[in-house]
Amino acid sequence: MNQLLVFGLQWGDEGKGKIVDYMAERFDAVVRFQGGHNAGHTVTVNREKKVLHLLPSGILRPRVQCLIGNGVVLSLPHLYRELQSINVDAADAADRLSLSCDCPLLFRCHSLLDQAREQKKANAIGTTGLGIGPAYEDKAARRALHLYDLLDERRFADQLQELLAYHNAVLQHCYDAEACDYQSELDEFMSLRDYFLPMITNVSAKIMALRSAGKKILYEGAQGVMLDLNHGTYPYVTSSNTVPAALAIGSGAPLTAEVHKLGVVKAYSTRVGLGPFPTELHNEIGARLAKRGNEFGATTGRPRRCGWLDACALRYAVLLSGVDSLCLSKLDVLSGFSELRVCTDYGVSGDACYSYSAQACADYKPNYRTLTGWDEDLHGWHDYEALPMAARDYIEYIESFVGVPVGIISTGPDRADNIIRRSDF
Ligand code: GDP
Ligand code: IMO
Ligand code: MG
Repeated sequence: MNQLLVFGLQWGDEGKGKIVDYMAERFDAVVRFQGGHNAGHTVTVNREKKVLHLLPSGILRPRVQCLIGNGVVLSLPHLYRELQSINVDAADAADRLSLSCDCPLLFRCHSLLDQAREQKKANAIGTTGLGIGPAYEDKAARRALHLYDLLDERRFADQLQELLAYHNAVLQHCYDAEACDYQSELDEFMSLRDYFLPMITNVSAKIMALRSAGKKILYEGAQGVMLDLNHGTYPYVTSSNTVPAALAIGSGAPLTAEVHKLGVVKAYSTRVGLGPFPTELHNEIGARLAKRGNEFGATTGRPRRCGWLDACALRYAVLLSGVDSLCLSKLDVLSGFSELRVCTDYGVSGDACYSYSAQACADYKPNYRTLTGWDEDLHGWHDYEALPMAARDYIEYIESFVGVPVGIISTGPDRADNIIRRSDF
């Protein structure tokens, strides 16, 4: 297998970053193709934890090329700070990081607008407040500035002025909010221009060339299928597509049958922000999952809502995505529960065609299958056959319910904490 897609099957935070960092050792390049710095991908190496937002989670592997495709909305100031925070020097960044010239740029006006809306609107979404939605809106409305616009300084200055005039009118008149200062925004981008110029390239062509040369490419999804703009719990979704098809649009390389689709699923469910969550637990069990799983958002620090595994939503996500194999993460968090529950349906007829729009699924009442728990601490385990029978039953039940094999089981946050059942890579 020369090409691998790692993506989330729930509401994000499934542990994608950890798996991408682990797998990246065997790949030549890691590509991000959607989302922006709303993503928070945690990578732990020898107990040292790093959270990546825009940078592909291959950045900690010195040999690996990191590419950001045209589907990502790019905040250059954020990217700069992120590179500094993990001590990547300018020469290494220029050597290993490629940014698509077609990335739409995310400016301060986008985050101001995102925050103003969240504060004013009665029905807030619970966004990260980073401006992701407004940046994608600009792209769809065909007024976005792109990375290639930075090549021509004068034109960039004019275009930015026009964009800010539009957004400042909205900010001030519709939301009574602070305007975005043109000069300071322009100065910031001009101060970053020379640093980023060597990284701007045609990422699509670069991926094609790597593919032709037989190089191994790993694509890193952000968020998860249930947050997909078209197929998630609309309107409580992110503003990009998170299903595998987004790979082709956001990287400029086709999603061929050679790309193995590895869906990451947490052994239970979590969600940050607002929106439907049929298996959410507002009780001691939910609190226990949150505590054992250390469930706080990697980007915003907000507590994550927790609940039992929603296998019904998982099967929907798997069907929609065409998954080849699963990575089951955070199995170690489930130790110590006498019994475990898995949602199999919501008590309405026609289970093959559930809709997950917020309106449709607001009244879903989960029915559960109860499975036996285990007491053994599985943290850092590597051997499938040595797992307690109840843990194997739990894994095999999920496999049979969704009809896809579990190839990797993650048993801790460190890159080494994995059980590999099948290795195609
Ligand atoms: P991502 O957005 O999908 O990359 O996931 P996040 O990094 O936002 O959240 C996953 C959290 O779980 C991080 O704190 C990881 O360090 C942690 N994590 C990942 N895999 C495991 C695991 O198998 N067991 C435990 N206990 N923690 C894990
Ligand atoms: P990773 O890649 C979890 C959620 C936000 C909010 C909704 C819309 O780390 O899995 P946005 O700022 O995107 O407009 O917010 O989407 N959200 C995530 N939740 N993990 C993420 O990314 C998320 N990115 C966005 O909490 O509910
Ligand atoms: Mg995350």
